[in-house]
Amino acid sequence: VDSKLIRNFSIIAHIDHGKSTLADRILDVTGALTAREQKEQFLDKMDIERERGITIKAQTVRLDYTAKDGQTYRLHLIDTPGHVDFNYEVSRSLQACEGALLVVDATQGVEAQTLANVFLALDNNLAIIPVLNKIDLPSADVERTTREIEDVIGLDCSGAIPASAKTGIGIAEILEAVVERIPAPKGDLNAAPRALIFDSWYDSYRGAVVMVRVVDGIIRKGQKVRFMATGRDYEVTEMGVFTPHATAITELGPGEVGFLVGNIKSVVDTKIGDTVTDAVHPATTPLPGFKEVKPMVFAGIFPTDSAQYEDLRDALSKLHMNDAAFVFEPDTSEALGFGFRCGFLGLLHMEIIQERLEREYNLDLITTAPSVVYHCYLNDGSMKSIENPAKLPPPNLTDRIEEPIFRMTVHVPSAYVGAVLALCQERRGEQKSIQYASSDRVIITYDMPLSEVLFDFHDKLKSVSRGYASMDYELVGYRADDLIKLDMLVNGDPLDALSVIVHRDKAYARGRDLAVKLKDIVPRQQYEVAIQAAIGSKVIARTTVKAMRKDVTAKCYGGDISRKRKLLEKQKEGKKRMKMVGSVEIPQEAFLAILKID
Ligand code: GTP
Repeated sequence: VDSKLIRNFSIIAHIDHGKSTLADRILDVTGALTAREQKEQFLDKMDIERERGITIKAQTVRLDYTAKDGQTYRLHLIDTPGHVDFNYEVSRSLQACEGALLVVDATQGVEAQTLANVFLALDNNLAIIPVLNKIDLPSADVERTTREIEDVIGLDCSGAIPASAKTGIGIAEILEAVVERIPAPKGDLNAAPRALIFDSWYDSYRGAVVMVRVVDGIIRKGQKVRFMATGRDYEVTEMGVFTPHATAITELGPGEVGFLVGNIKSVVDTKIGDTVTDAVHPATTPLPGFKEVKPMVFAGIFPTDSAQYEDLRDALSKLHMNDAAFVFEPDTSEALGFGFRCGFLGLLHMEIIQERLEREYNLDLITTAPSVVYHCYLNDGSMKSIENPAKLPPPNLTDRIEEPIFRMTVHVPSAYVGAVLALCQERRGEQKSIQYASSDRVIITYDMPLSEVLFDFHDKLKSVSRGYASMDYELVGYRADDLIKLDMLVNGDPLDALSVIVHRDKAYARGRDLAVKLKDIVPRQQYEVAIQAAIGSKVIARTTVKAMRKDVTAKCYGGDISRKRKLLEKQKEGKKRMKMVGSVEIPQEAFLAILKID
């Protein structure tokens, strides 16, 4: 197709502002779909994704649209993931577009995530078409929302389109605007081919599949191509587009979007942001902006039953094949035995992986408290990356410890500003700015250690603002602080999986809270159990789990066999998520207790 007739765009929206519903309507209007089920199958590949209502894997459809000018345009609607954990994927998806629909719920106004994604789009020089959604609702306030977009984003809203993705109002106008206001892709048909990889996934029959946007030249079926960042060559054995049904094609020219298959073993080889070129006549420079994604959050994953270790390894390998951002390596814990240290983009990513392991692979797991990656500078000047607090070098060898700092942007109605500021301050935040978006909406920016964000910051933010605050964050760098390791001991045995790195000022409170919490979680044993919090060899807090008064099974001995069996069965059930530490049984909850401390 003539690239003048191509339009590549995506939809930017805060969660629940109506992105999926609008995508649905656009598919309806362009006649791409006969039933909603089909769309659900295609745009939401994973069960978990549907249940959580977020899009994890970007997926793109090709649509034909005949405009008022009589021409038939080829539209590529590029779906972007909506959560901050997947920010880099969002930015690559946007790089594949010339324009974006900015969907704002007219009953809610601009939210933090909308903003972050709009700025990403503006960085990529995209044409932005504001869409004011949900105008069918009586509480919609088009004028106010328009003003907010202009004030906060500085975007000209004279061409904003009031719409209802639910009833269909404004959809025709949106499609015309896509054709009129979003520029056609520019690319050099005769140059060495360059295509941007902006998504990839694993298919058990085809191996890794990559979604690309061609910038220059042509990629053909049968061609030998090179992935420039990894330096690997593949023959393109299959190509296709989603209409939204997967449809085979034989070539993709400048501006076009589709998928490639080529006997690629694993998604680890398909780096998002990499450039595909010709292996024989390669382009000299790759497309700009490639960046290796690094996991930000690490946690240990251990099988409750050590017999499941190999099954767990298999399951982790399979998940890694489909998700290069998830990494793992073998790990041992004195308390938990053999398991794996796993890295994730963020907490949501971690929860998703954990859930899939338990649900799809039927594993019983103990997950330890997540930790960020610390930079530990030793006295000899060298630096060690610490993904596991248990592995922190002793203080006498350490010069300083640095931690990752995130810039938080919080949007909140003015009534809750005081409460939000207090929360940020308490979390070791450093205030950067307070800005009034309108008379009653405020944007607060703080630099805050990621470790403070991980510990239920989001829940707290929601509760101090009655659910009205929204947030977004990005890494800005590393900063040194007075950080120390806090250990927990059970009857003198260290629970290495519970060690955390904390700020010295918070160590006492954290240690005491944790000891109190564990006292409630650790079941009574035959004897007294001492729970201690310690910094080095110094115990800073202690609680005691009293001994059981009576032996439960004692009265069964020599008695009724079936009753005894029943009791043992019951105990086994209860034991499922227990782990022996020294001589004490510790339930799974204990390892996550640290997340639930105020
Ligand atoms: P995520 O996938 O979670 O990012 O959400 P989303 O932005 O895709 O929102 P989605 O399309 O799932 O819509 C969220 C809710 O708003 C759903 O219950 C929709 O039915 C509803 N909704 C979407 N558009 C409209 C609209 O124009 N009017 C009304 N009344 N409701 C709408």
